[in-house]
Amino acid sequence: MGRLVFFSFVSIFSFLVTFSDVMIPQKHVMALPLSTDSRWIVDENGQRVKLACVNWVSHLEVMVAEGLSKQPMDAIAKRILSMGFNCVRLTWPVFLVTNDTLGFLTVRQSLQSHGLLESISGIQANNPSIIDLSLLDVYQAVVSSLGDNNVMVILDNHISKPGWCCSNFDGNGFFGDQYFDPDEWITGLTRMASMFNGVPNVVGMSLRNELRGPKQNVNDWYRYMQKGAEAVHSANPDVIVILSGLNYDKDLSFLRNRPVNLTFSGKIVFEAHWYGFTDGEAWRNGNSNQVCGRVVDNMMRMSGFLLDQGWPLFVSEFGVDQRGTNVNDNRYLGCFLGVAAELDFDWALWTLVGSYYLRQGVLGMNEYYGVLNWNWCEARNSTFLQQISALQSPFRGPGLSEVNPHTVIFHPSTGLCVLRKSLFEPLRLGPCSESESWNYTPQKILSVKGTYFCLQTDDLAEPVKVGLICTDSNSKWETISDSKMHLSSKASNGTTVCLDVDSNNTIVTNICKCLSKDNACDPESQWFKLVNSTRSSAMIKPLSQMISILNFPAKDIYGSS
Ligand SMILES: *[C@@H]1O[C@H](CO)[C@@H](O)[C@H](O)[C@H]1NC(C)=O
Ligand SMILES: *[C@@H]1O[C@H](CO)[C@@H](O)[C@H](O)[C@H]1NC(C)=O
Ligand SMILES: *[C@@H]1O[C@H](CO)[C@@H](O)[C@H](O)[C@H]1NC(C)=O
Ligand SMILES: *[C@@H]1O[C@H](CO)[C@@H](O)[C@H](O)[C@H]1NC(C)=O
Ligand SMILES: *[C@@H]1O[C@H](CO)[C@@H](O)[C@H](O)[C@H]1NC(C)=O
Ligand SMILES: *[C@@H]1O[C@H](CO)[C@@H](O)[C@H](O)[C@H]1NC(C)=O
Repeated sequence: MGRLVFFSFVSIFSFLVTFSDVMIPQKHVMALPLSTDSRWIVDENGQRVKLACVNWVSHLEVMVAEGLSKQPMDAIAKRILSMGFNCVRLTWPVFLVTNDTLGFLTVRQSLQSHGLLESISGIQANNPSIIDLSLLDVYQAVVSSLGDNNVMVILDNHISKPGWCCSNFDGNGFFGDQYFDPDEWITGLTRMASMFNGVPNVVGMSLRNELRGPKQNVNDWYRYMQKGAEAVHSANPDVIVILSGLNYDKDLSFLRNRPVNLTFSGKIVFEAHWYGFTDGEAWRNGNSNQVCGRVVDNMMRMSGFLLDQGWPLFVSEFGVDQRGTNVNDNRYLGCFLGVAAELDFDWALWTLVGSYYLRQGVLGMNEYYGVLNWNWCEARNSTFLQQISALQSPFRGPGLSEVNPHTVIFHPSTGLCVLRKSLFEPLRLGPCSESESWNYTPQKILSVKGTYFCLQTDDLAEPVKVGLICTDSNSKWETISDSKMHLSSKASNGTTVCLDVDSNNTIVTNICKCLSKDNACDPESQWFKLVNSTRSSAMIKPLSQMISILNFPAKDIYGSS
């Protein structure tokens, strides 16, 4: 279908908060529709397109995309883009398209029927043109507004009967449940796929959110998911078709030895969900390194293995309480971000929503997992946005200058990377777009790519050095602890130390923190991830500087003695 030239402004936001001086929007041209190339999602030119999405809820009782009583649609779309997302996972309930009584309700009628008079006046003030449109027309208007702003959309069938999702016994969990008739579901998918056939910014459809409950089983999964995938593909061959797993979308392990059998290829993506509470209170109650190691191993067995098998994996829900007060969420986030950078998978944050018209009977409920604040006016927490910003553009994949493979040292708790501002300043954390290019050798040396310089421990609590004699034990960096996120080396007196950051974001070494057992302490300042990258470096060092490096005395390039 129609090729479209599509602009994306990945990394516009990047470091608005603290690094406003480096804000250079990177505009690149994307040719839709999308397809897959092994584990990557690519455009018509074979260039990787990384989905960096945010979930926008439109499947609750009122069936109107949330927030339209707070801000104009177009302003919300622009805000999504300015926060660095290139895509929205827009949810919808089956009944919206299979029950005409519902689909043709107007926004006013729908809100009225739930007594939401304040939301009616909010919509009249902020989006007056939609108040008497049908729910189906408004869903399309939202998609179209996102398209006008070059935001891609994934239509996510979230539930059958409109309402908050999910529980094992809500009648929406699995094929054959009270509200989940497989034929009606196929009808709904087909109508939705047809309705958006030819709408270029609709790049994908996810078949069903979080299958679950007592009826779930593998055989029915193949039977119905394959049928659903075929139905969507035949109604709209442009979209990528996204298949979710069992047990609240945690489990795709059955695919390891039994691939899906479909009549088409190059359009299939799998999705998985991964929150802190996916593992209950494990993070709060355990040692962060040990929990991270265990949880990641499990995730790789349940879904992550698909990447190695050559399928794209879209982590279509993750997120945290952005107030920063939930210890379980906070500990999970550092581990999640490290893995997300390392595997460089596609993702969608839960959620855009700052507050709901009506959720679970509560009017105007505040959403602490939302990136927007209650009145949809500003980002809820700019620190959080900075943490995820490095993940909003791809580290590698088709079309990224594959001539420049290197390693980036990523620091999840800040979302920053290790870089050198100049030769004479200590190493610091800074925007990953300016990351130093490192080379991690089989001898476990971290050298500055293209030079003989390597990362070295100086004294405890002192800035690390970049030196030329790279054979001593202070130049050898092992990834230790169960999380494999501590980078450890030896100080001059033989003590094992770990890479850390001080309060000025200077890279130092300190005694390694809570590698195991201790459940109370937080190791996150010492969590780093070595990430493979082929991003072209924004800071290609001029030749003159390289020469001055080589002329400089081998030791103490910071002139510390
Ligand atoms: C459609 O929805 C209305 C309102 O909820 C309901 O009364 C009606 O029974 C539904 N129709 C069908 C065919 O399910
Ligand atoms: C895949 O599906 C086709 C068509 O339904 C069928 O003929 C074929 O046997 C199936 N292959 C496997 C491996 O199940
Ligand atoms: C934002 O998140 C950080 C880190 O979790 C937390 O310390 C801070 O208090 C949060 N800020 C607001 C305004 O909620
Ligand atoms: C090495 O030095 C550090 C800091 O000066 C000290 O805490 C540690 O005990 C020393 N280790 C040994 C083995 O001497
Ligand atoms: C951080 O920088 C300030 C100002 O330059 C300095 O006074 C302070 O000692 C530094 N802190 C550390 C831990 O080095
Ligand atoms: C990163 O690159 C190294 C060296 O090529 C490789 O061994 C490793 O598997 C890569 N990691 C990932 C996550 O692809």
